[in-house]
Amino acid sequence: MSQLAFEDSGRGSPVVLFVHAFPFDRRMWRRQIDALARHDVRTIAVDLAGFGASADLPPRRSVDEHADDVAQVLEACGVDRAIAVGLSMGGYVALALARRHPQRLAGLVLADTRASGDTEEAKQGRAVNIERARKQGVAAVFDAMSTAWPPNADRMHIEEMRSLSAAQNPAGVIAALEMMRDRPDATPTLGQIRVPTRVIVGSADGLTPPSLAEIMTRSIPGAQQVIIEGAGHFTNIERSAEFDQVLLDLVRHVRPT
Ligand code: MLT
Repeated sequence: MSQLAFEDSGRGSPVVLFVHAFPFDRRMWRRQIDALARHDVRTIAVDLAGFGASADLPPRRSVDEHADDVAQVLEACGVDRAIAVGLSMGGYVALALARRHPQRLAGLVLADTRASGDTEEAKQGRAVNIERARKQGVAAVFDAMSTAWPPNADRMHIEEMRSLSAAQNPAGVIAALEMMRDRPDATPTLGQIRVPTRVIVGSADGLTPPSLAEIMTRSIPGAQQVIIEGAGHFTNIERSAEFDQVLLDLVRHVRPT
């Protein structure tokens, strides 16, 4: 049995599995869950350990442990294979899922993420954010992610994500910062991915810019890149219609006829 909290729409095919970004939970996927339901696609969205309704689970120290948790959700749902969709931190977990449980994947969507591990500078930034989460709370960590947004970002989108971040448990967020700081470089294993893959990135994403998406696209056999012009880091929120279209194209590609 999986311990993670998750939401399974329970009907339709294929199955699309959503893994959320930092510091949020599965609720960031509500637009995609609704859109895919209209096309008879089954969706499963997880709350990673430490987040959302999985807030009280013991902290996971590695990205591999998160990937194993997610694989257990598929097992618990009786799902052999799914299209895994991960945004940013969710992409780190999706890449670990591809490495550790390749037989579980029918397709892969890597959105606003990177394969490389943290640089020394990024590791120092994790230490600053750990202090922030401890002393000022999780919304302060969110506020420090200002380069995620394009200059003309919709205030409603920022407010939506800010309140989702403020709902998270600081202990879970700190554990995730440590996990991300210590995660390995996934670049050497990208060439082993054998499922249809889409790499999505906002052209104005200041956290995981298009240059990082290009590395993944070049390294994963047959991967296709989609740049969403003018969007920042949270492409599924900022430009949900274009994001959903990429998912639906991939669904049509893998759906048995
Ligand atoms: C995220 O959006 O999940 C984070 O920006 C990932 C990270 O901090 O590396």
